[in-house]
Amino acid sequence: MKTILTGIRANSELTLGNYLGALLPMVRLANKYSDEMNVNIFVPDLHSIIADIDGDLQKNIVRTIKYYLAAGLKVTPNVHIYRQSYVPAHSELCWILNCITTMGEASRMTQYKEKSEGRDSCNVGIFDYPILMASDILLYSAEYVPIGEDQFQHIELTRNLAMRFNNRFGEIFTVPVKTAEQVKFMGISDGIRIRDLLNPEKKMSKSTLAENSKIMLDDSPELATKKIMSATTDSLGKIKFDMFNQPGISNLLVTDALVTDTPLQDVIATWAGETRYGELKKKVGMDVAEMLREFQSKLTGISDDEIYALFDLGEKYANEVAGAKLREVQKSVGLR
Ligand code: TRP
Repeated sequence: MKTILTGIRANSELTLGNYLGALLPMVRLANKYSDEMNVNIFVPDLHSIIADIDGDLQKNIVRTIKYYLAAGLKVTPNVHIYRQSYVPAHSELCWILNCITTMGEASRMTQYKEKSEGRDSCNVGIFDYPILMASDILLYSAEYVPIGEDQFQHIELTRNLAMRFNNRFGEIFTVPVKTAEQVKFMGISDGIRIRDLLNPEKKMSKSTLAENSKIMLDDSPELATKKIMSATTDSLGKIKFDMFNQPGISNLLVTDALVTDTPLQDVIATWAGETRYGELKKKVGMDVAEMLREFQSKLTGISDDEIYALFDLGEKYANEVAGAKLREVQKSVGLR
């Protein structure tokens, strides 16, 4: 049986953009395939601690999985939910892969370059991040790894490491499919991505300081509506989907399509010929509020115990699968 594997770092509250652009599509994919494939959804908690370590980590770990459930994830017997740090094979394989990765390769990773900005004070965890990520994927022979564009480089590195290892030590790893095929598998079209409300040329980001730029998943529905009402538009006076000339209006159309689960073309058609931006904002504001209300009420209905029970089950499975793969690896390099 094939395996789909994905994870989201649990450092902070997510934005509506993270939810609509990453979490929700992932949940839909999981529900679509979990009869015929393994679906591994894990919390990369070891990856979390490359950033400031604070006392909220445990709470965030549990909340991350609650998000998937509130987004509608169906937990079938093929769905495995686990924490990275509860499966020691991840860190062990990471060490072995470290030893076949070159400094050059790891230094070329864009995320590392951006996060370190060449500072000596940058921690080594940030540098090693993609290699731990490769371990997360290769231990489970996952072919499909649905994640955001910013992580594609890490998938390519994972493929390279897997192929290199196989060449040297025998056919041990399943090589994940190329990023172009990952995109096809995910079925997400380009440009469907929620933008910053005040600067719609950029994508919505949780690290943006301006509160009105982003909608957080725990914003009250009223606050979210207000933020939509104050979104930047333009002075062209027509409601048209045109990311280049009218990114603000286009973003509102995309947002409405995603929160109401309507094809974008249909939303665009509904507003064709209309000119009143206020009306569009009112409608989008209402739809976002409605989505948040429903999501938040589901979220409060999920207990921590429920999540810890899922972890218990998933970690048994994960330790078996990952442990067996690690032993193969250890044997092939002569450690066993
Ligand atoms: N790097 C991913 C993120 O920032 C999280 C992650 C860690 C991950 N390991 C992974 C995703 C393995 C997919 C597969 O969100």
